[in-house]
Amino acid sequence: MPHPLEELRDAALREISDAGDEQSLDTARVRYLGRNGSISAWGEQMKTLGKDEKPIVGKLLNEVRDAVAAAIEERAQNSIDIFRRMGFALADGPDIEDEWHCFDALNTPPEHPARNEQDTFYLPDGRLLRTHTSTVQIRAMQAAPPPMRVIAPGAAYRRDEVDATHSAQFHQIEGLYVDETVSVADLKGTIELFMRELFGPDTEVQFRPHYFPFTEPSLEVYVKSKALKRGEQCIEVAGCGMVHPAVFEAVNKARGDDAYDPEKWTGFAFGLGMDRLAMILFDIPDIRLFAQNDSRFLRQFA
Ligand code: DAH
Repeated sequence: MPHPLEELRDAALREISDAGDEQSLDTARVRYLGRNGSISAWGEQMKTLGKDEKPIVGKLLNEVRDAVAAAIEERAQNSIDIFRRMGFALADGPDIEDEWHCFDALNTPPEHPARNEQDTFYLPDGRLLRTHTSTVQIRAMQAAPPPMRVIAPGAAYRRDEVDATHSAQFHQIEGLYVDETVSVADLKGTIELFMRELFGPDTEVQFRPHYFPFTEPSLEVYVKSKALKRGEQCIEVAGCGMVHPAVFEAVNKARGDDAYDPEKWTGFAFGLGMDRLAMILFDIPDIRLFAQNDSRFLRQFA
């Protein structure tokens, strides 16, 4: 007869392999390996065992715990993996930027409020901490001609009033896809697929009209998923749109060629709030927890 621990292991492995999305995978992780999880409960029970039994059950417990942890790790896909599977390559750029990459090249004129000293961290030499990862769109296009399909995860900085949902440093995943026939339908399909992979197949994804200087049309993305604690709420998670021809023109000017001819190429771009996604996914109440370096908080995700 199999030991109850072996039965527990088999049930856990089955649940892990059946998990359809990150949310259910995390539920499985908590159920088995969480502080009050059933494998952890066996650790407690060890204390009550006799001398002979202890080493045998202890060894089995370790094996079961390792097997379940390994299975979860193997399944755990993060946001970057989801985009990678859709063919996006990784790109990056510096956190300390110049105004041209952060604003001018992104069709954001000098009088735009984002450029205000009150909103942005400037260095004495005029450079700044990037206010968004959209800078990497420009750097990627300067570096290579189309077609282009990249994501750029990274930090961004704003002089926000710090509270439970605002932090002076936060994280975004930027996306850019440029090709000959890219349309709004491609944009919506890509975002929808990503959100359903992350939050589960029942996730409702809404697109609402918005304004960003560097896209036209521009949209905001909202998600709603019954699988989440705040399941009835629509939560804003991203900005996106079709790359504005003025952005391609700025890149061409810097490149000194016509590689991103707006008559020939179209593209979509998006910026996802990474902290926001993690807060929804793991039901984290306060964005400040990410930066406080409390190992009890951080260990949950290790
Ligand atoms: N950069 C915008 C922000 O930080 C987000 C964003 C919106 C990025 C639209 C994009 C985009 O690439 O197309 O608020």
